[in-house]
Amino acid sequence: MSTLEKLKTLRELYICRAIGFEYHKELKEIRGEPNTYIPNGIDELRQIVSKCHLCQLCKGRKNVVFGEGNIKAKLMFVGEGPGANEDACGKPFVGQAGQLLTKIIENVLSLTRNDVYIANVVKCRPPQNRTPTYEEATICRPYLLRQIEIINPAVIVALGGTGFRYLTDDETPISRVRGEIIQYKNSKLIPTFHPSFLLRTPSAKKDVWHDILKVKGLL
Ligand code: URA
Repeated sequence: MSTLEKLKTLRELYICRAIGFEYHKELKEIRGEPNTYIPNGIDELRQIVSKCHLCQLCKGRKNVVFGEGNIKAKLMFVGEGPGANEDACGKPFVGQAGQLLTKIIENVLSLTRNDVYIANVVKCRPPQNRTPTYEEATICRPYLLRQIEIINPAVIVALGGTGFRYLTDDETPISRVRGEIIQYKNSKLIPTFHPSFLLRTPSAKKDVWHDILKVKGLL
């Protein structure tokens, strides 16, 4: 069994235990689609995620950063993973990149953070803010997918190449795919540059401005 297969099996066992199965029950009771094991409500999901120990990122975290915002939001942002500030307080996008995201939400969309929902592909901080590995993202992804199913946003903005790639399995570079409107399950998905990239490359802000105006048009 590969490490990824082991982790997937462990995740299924973990979810089963979280909703009341005992590990010693017969395996036939816990076969089926993994998503059917995940509780429906966002609070139940948050509880499961907050106790997750399925990958190595749990070892270094101070807090799980589940995501926050309006669970009836029409617009959802998906970033890569928490950084030091987010890990310290358990909330997504609160550092410098987060402040820029807040400005985008307020100044371009004329909304507040309370109107939208903000989440990440991985819910625990990767050490030294490195990019999450494929295994970490694959293990954490069902949580994000369930979040998306529960919130059911009309529009999802994938922030940065990592968010886009791990959400869609599409390897197209963000510089080529940004601004496109992609049908993603029940939602329209628009990838754009990550706010951290904008902090390093302010000249890309105009591209994001265009992309977010497209988002505004869809809402
Ligand atoms: N970068 C992200 O991708 N997510 C956060 O929550 C913060 C910074």
